Amino acid sequence: EDRRITRVKELIKDYPDFPKPGILFRDIFPVLQDAKAFRGLVDAMVDFIKANCDGVEVIIGLDSRGFLFGPMIAEALGISFVPIRKAGKLPGETYKVEYTLEYGTDKCEMQKESVKPGQKIVILDDLLATGGTMKAACDLADVAQATVLCCVVVIELTDLQGRKRLKYPCHAFIQY
Ligand code: PRP
Ligand code: HPA
Repeated sequence: EDRRITRVKELIKDYPDFPKPGILFRDIFPVLQDAKAFRGLVDAMVDFIKANCDGVEVIIGLDSRGFLFGPMIAEALGISFVPIRKAGKLPGETYKVEYTLEYGTDKCEMQKESVKPGQKIVILDDLLATGGTMKAACDLADVAQATVLCCVVVIELTDLQGRKRLKYPCHAFIQY
């Protein structure tokens, strides 16, 4: 096992009944308050992508906590970072998809010029829960005709079976 990930696990803090009764919220921000632990996590993510995502050209980060890691990882790999944002935040021409939440739906967008057809991408977020957000990102990648090498998350909440909704490989460093 990777000691860098063991350290991250120690720092993730659990909040029962947040934001609603019955939810056990896993908070990643304590990791960012420890520079050495944060560096270890980013390095572990870079190592994983180097070893498993041959030829990756773009890191896609999901709004908003995917933005905490995505740019650092892209910079370390010397490749492009592209955000997927909740609707109405990105200027210019965008691809849009609707996705399901626990209650109701939401929309997310990606700028059309940011990913070219055939480009090899990795989609990154802090956490996979129901998988709705990651599935929407995969749908956007499909619309853009990008090649999704892998979905990468720090944390997977396995009970929710979000992974089943994804048609691409998904790697999680920590599973609860
Ligand atoms: C959280 C988390 C993921 C998503 C996972 O983001 O950061 O993006 O939910 O849930 P899902 O697998 O059920 O779709 P949230 O929507 O809370 O937004 P935030 O990152 O801006 O806090
Ligand atoms: N922690 C952080 N973000 C989340 C969670 C959680 O447990 N569930 C859904 N989004």
